[in-house]
Amino acid sequence: MNNNFSIEDNILIAGASGLIGSAVLRHFKLNRYKNLFHPTKNELNYLNKDQFFEYCVKNKIKHLIFAAGKVGGILDNKNNQTSYLFDNTELALNALKVSIEADLKIVVLFGSSCMYPIKSPQPYKEKDLLTGKIEKTSMGYAISKILLTQGANVINETGRHYPFFISVIPNSTYGPNDNFDDKTSHVLGALINKIYTAKVNNDPEISLFGTGKSLREFVYSDDVADAIFFLITNLKEKPKTAINIGTSEEISIKNLALEIAKIVGYNGKINFNINKLDGAPRKILDITQMKTLGWSPKVYLKDGLVNTIDWYVNNIR
Ligand SMILES: NC(=O)c1ccc[n+]([C@@H]2O[C@H](COP(=O)([O-])OP(=O)(O)OC[C@H]3O[C@@H](n4cnc5c(N)ncnc54)[C@H](OP(=O)(O)O)[C@@H]3O)[C@@H](O)[C@H]2O)c1
Repeated sequence: MNNNFSIEDNILIAGASGLIGSAVLRHFKLNRYKNLFHPTKNELNYLNKDQFFEYCVKNKIKHLIFAAGKVGGILDNKNNQTSYLFDNTELALNALKVSIEADLKIVVLFGSSCMYPIKSPQPYKEKDLLTGKIEKTSMGYAISKILLTQGANVINETGRHYPFFISVIPNSTYGPNDNFDDKTSHVLGALINKIYTAKVNNDPEISLFGTGKSLREFVYSDDVADAIFFLITNLKEKPKTAINIGTSEEISIKNLALEIAKIVGYNGKINFNINKLDGAPRKILDITQMKTLGWSPKVYLKDGLVNTIDWYVNNIR
C-alpha cells in the first residue's frame, strides 16, 4: 500500500456523474472507502480555480481523481476543436495548480490515446509519447491532454514535496453513464443507440458511420477504475510517464456493430457509409507496463457490452 493512502482519507472524485468518474466512485465504495466527495458540476465547477481550491481546503481533501473534462467522439472533436482545447486546457491547469496549492497527496489525471504520434508503431508504447505529429481532427483535445499529463510528469520530477501525480491513458472506454448521443458520443455509444433504435422501430436496414474496417480497443469503465485503484495502492515511486490502460484486444467497428446487433436482437441489414469520417485505421495500446506491475483487465468485451446495453435500456430509453 502507498504510504500516503489510507481508507480514512478524504478523496475528491471529479466528474463522478460521467463514465469513468462513476466507475471510480463505485469501485471505491465497493472497497469500503467512506470519505468520498463527488460534487455535481452545479456544486463545483472545476473551471473556477478559486472555487475548486476552496472546496479542497474546506473539505480537507487529501487525494483527487480528476475525471472531469469535455469529452466527445471524433465528429464533435473535429467540429469544436476550440472549445475542447480551451475547456480541457483550463481544467488541466486548474487541476495541476490546485493539487499543489491545496497540498494534495495523490492525484490521478487522464490522458488520451490521441496524444500518441499517428506514425508510432502500434500497439502504442508510453516511450513514444511526444516523438512525432499527432492526429489533426482531435488536436485541440490532444494538446490539452499533453499539457495535463506531461505537466504532471514535469512536476513529479521537480520536487518531493509536490503531489504524487499518476497520469493514465485509458483506451476507448465504455460502460454505464457513457454518452449515447449520436452527435457527441464515441463510436460504441453511438452504435448502441443507433442499433437499439433500429430494433425498436423495426427498421429493415441501417447505415453506419465510416467503412467499418477501423480497428479499436475498448476497455470497460470498471477495469479503468480497477487499474487506477491498483496504481494508487501499488506504485511506490512517482511515474515518469503516463501509463496505458487497455485490454490488448482489438475489434473492427463492423464486428462491434454485429456483436451489438446480436445482443439487442436486431436482424436488419447493417450498411456502412464510406463517405463519412473514419478516424485512424487502428488504435491499440501496449499495456506491458501495467502487466509488469501486476495488473490485467478482467472484463471481456461481450460481458461489458451486455452490461452497458442493459444500463442504456434502463436509463436512457
Ligand atoms: N471516455 C473515454 O473513452 C476516455 C478515454 C481516455 C481518457 N478519457 C478521459 O477520462 C476523463 C473522464 O472521461 P469520461 O469519458 O468519463 O467523460 P464523461 O463521461 O463525459 O464525464 C465527464 C465528467 O466531467 C464533468 N465535467 C465536465 N466539465 C466540468 C466542469 N467544468 N466542472 C465540473 N465537472 C465537469 C461532467 O459533468 P456533467 O455531466 O454535469 O457535465 C461529467 O461528470 C476525461 O478527462 C477524458 O478525457 C476518457
